[in-house]
Amino acid sequence: AENPKSSRGLLVVFEGLDRAGKTTQCQLLYEKLAKRLGAGRVRVQKVPDRSTQIGQAINAYLVSQTHLPDQAIHLLFSANRWELRESILSSLVAGQTVILDRYVPSGVAYSLAKGIPDMSLEWCLAPDRGLPQPDVTIFLDVDPDNAKLQTARADFGRERYEVSEFQAKVRESFKTILGDDANPGALRMGKVITIDASQELDAVATCIWDAIKDLDIGDKEMEIIQ
Ligand code: TMP
Repeated sequence: AENPKSSRGLLVVFEGLDRAGKTTQCQLLYEKLAKRLGAGRVRVQKVPDRSTQIGQAINAYLVSQTHLPDQAIHLLFSANRWELRESILSSLVAGQTVILDRYVPSGVAYSLAKGIPDMSLEWCLAPDRGLPQPDVTIFLDVDPDNAKLQTARADFGRERYEVSEFQAKVRESFKTILGDDANPGALRMGKVITIDASQELDAVATCIWDAIKDLDIGDKEMEIIQ
């Protein structure tokens, strides 16, 4: 994360099921990087960004205030990422590391898990082609039926998708998309690091820091998702 040979920031993506601990771990990594690089050299961006008009439409869908065809909500999630593209790119160019709390893999994994014949992996990825490609993707892997998770977030179950059987399918989609060390996944999302997120919070944070702290992208150019 020192990135000595290049002046651009890193694009770091956190992925995982609901309640995997992404938001907490994003914050912990943010604090460590801010301490090392300086507070202005790193920021966290939540995806979806519910503050925009598109984000509000997504929120209304997630809390079941509205109904939308699966294809339409999929495209809204993608459009919400396109809204963020410019600010992500300008941060990276200005040397700021951007930590994304979800990104393209969530878009593909959740829609794919619905099992709709017309919504193939190819169909799901298509609207995201052209977005900035992450340098590193950290997949916080948890078993959705893990007993510890049941109490992790008191409000779990309030939103659409927060149902154990569906989460199990999303987990399988994530694995197909992201792959592992031995088997590259279907999507190019930079260096993919899978972490057992059922460990204690501090142990998970240590795994993440060990993977990130000496990461050196050299003078690697920013790439786009193909
Ligand atoms: P959040 O709880 O992290 O804000 O994410 C909202 C929900 O939307 C969560 O269940 C994951 C899901 N999701 C998608 O279905 N597609 C996407 O593209 C993204 C970013 C999230």
